[in-house]
Amino acid sequence: METANIQTTIRNSQGVSKAPFHTSIFFSISKGSDKIGGLLEHLEVIKKHNINLTRIESRPSKTEKSDYDFFLDLEYGSNTLKEVEKVIEDLESRGVKVTIVSENPQVDSSDSSIPWFPRKLSDLDLYANKVLEMGDELSSDHPGATDPVYRARRKEIATIAATYKHGHEIPRINYTKEETETWGRVYKKLKELFANYACQQHTFVFPLLEQNCGYSEDNIPQLQDISNFLQECTGFRIRPVQGLLSSRDFLNGLAFRVFHATQYIRHSSVPLYTPEPDVCHELLGHVPLFADPDFADFSQEIGLASIGASDEDIERLSTCYWFTVEFGICKEGDKIKAYGAGLLSSTGELEYCISDKPEKKPFDPFVTCKTKYPITTFQPLYYVAESFADAKEKMREFADSLKKPFAIRYNPYTTSIELLDNKDKLLNICNQIRLQADTLADAIQKFKSL
Ligand SMILES: [Fe+2]
Repeated sequence: METANIQTTIRNSQGVSKAPFHTSIFFSISKGSDKIGGLLEHLEVIKKHNINLTRIESRPSKTEKSDYDFFLDLEYGSNTLKEVEKVIEDLESRGVKVTIVSENPQVDSSDSSIPWFPRKLSDLDLYANKVLEMGDELSSDHPGATDPVYRARRKEIATIAATYKHGHEIPRINYTKEETETWGRVYKKLKELFANYACQQHTFVFPLLEQNCGYSEDNIPQLQDISNFLQECTGFRIRPVQGLLSSRDFLNGLAFRVFHATQYIRHSSVPLYTPEPDVCHELLGHVPLFADPDFADFSQEIGLASIGASDEDIERLSTCYWFTVEFGICKEGDKIKAYGAGLLSSTGELEYCISDKPEKKPFDPFVTCKTKYPITTFQPLYYVAESFADAKEKMREFADSLKKPFAIRYNPYTTSIELLDNKDKLLNICNQIRLQADTLADAIQKFKSL
């Protein structure tokens, strides 16, 4: 999966005295209306009802009836609960079809200056329908745009992701002969290239996926089997996703060691090309790396840095994600190998990225985060990591430099994000570190006596 660039993001700093309630809504502005004028008219409705608007994301609409789609996050106090219903009624009376994406995520902090973020794994359920590009909406230049059978199939698979809830088994897809053949062609071609161009972590894990998860030329593996395997290796899990999530939502998932993966496959007419992430990209490019402990930690570092980050910092982090998890290359002795999923799932770019043609610079998140990049052509520049462990340390240093008025940590026992906002929580961490230090000292002692 890849992150998406948000075209417009506006933050409203208007305060609300006590605002524990949140609702996210989605609506489109119809063809012919002026985007800014049309949007302002609708925002006036929200202002009139004394609701705080904390976030707007926009994108060009993929449907024929509309020009622009908008996601809005509304924040309000208990005394204005009814006002949200009136906002929606008011908007709909103006001919706008409003979809409620999520309502009242549980926020356990009374400090309304801290932006909402998911606290526990089930909070990621709120993202299920909050996608910037739906899996069943295809642009006119998509290879499957004029194929009604393909479009219906995409819709069917997108529905699985739309209704998936944390804790459920990921439904298995009965892939057709045509889909499996498309997978087989990609699998065969990429596997030939992996030996020369993929990093050692990828080549180490790949046979394990063949042994444990049904990876083969004539079988498309199932997300649930892969998720079970990754949980045993590094604690990473897979969640099905309909299409493109916003950068913030996608990166927030990584904070929980959750990777959002698509389940559909590219159109059979051009098996070695896809305009968007598909099951070949996810399973052949991303999955093997999430089985590596250092890479898993590195990915979670980016995710944790994204929790409650400003929009500007999300942009920087998603740029780092692009140049590492998607298009990263790394040193291996005196050689350079690919570890980015965008490279490992591309039959053309995998060979190109290692050649002398593109420029290469050492990975430094403080520099990397400001680099512009193309999204439809091969990359002119790649950042080279010394190792995953080194990249993780650099990422942590970068994350520490981001300005946030609060501290968090991921609790692996409860798989939740904890806000470190009182002495008891800090003391609890101290005690855990002390116990771990005792265990370490004991182990060293035993090791010395051998
Ligand atoms: Fe990706």
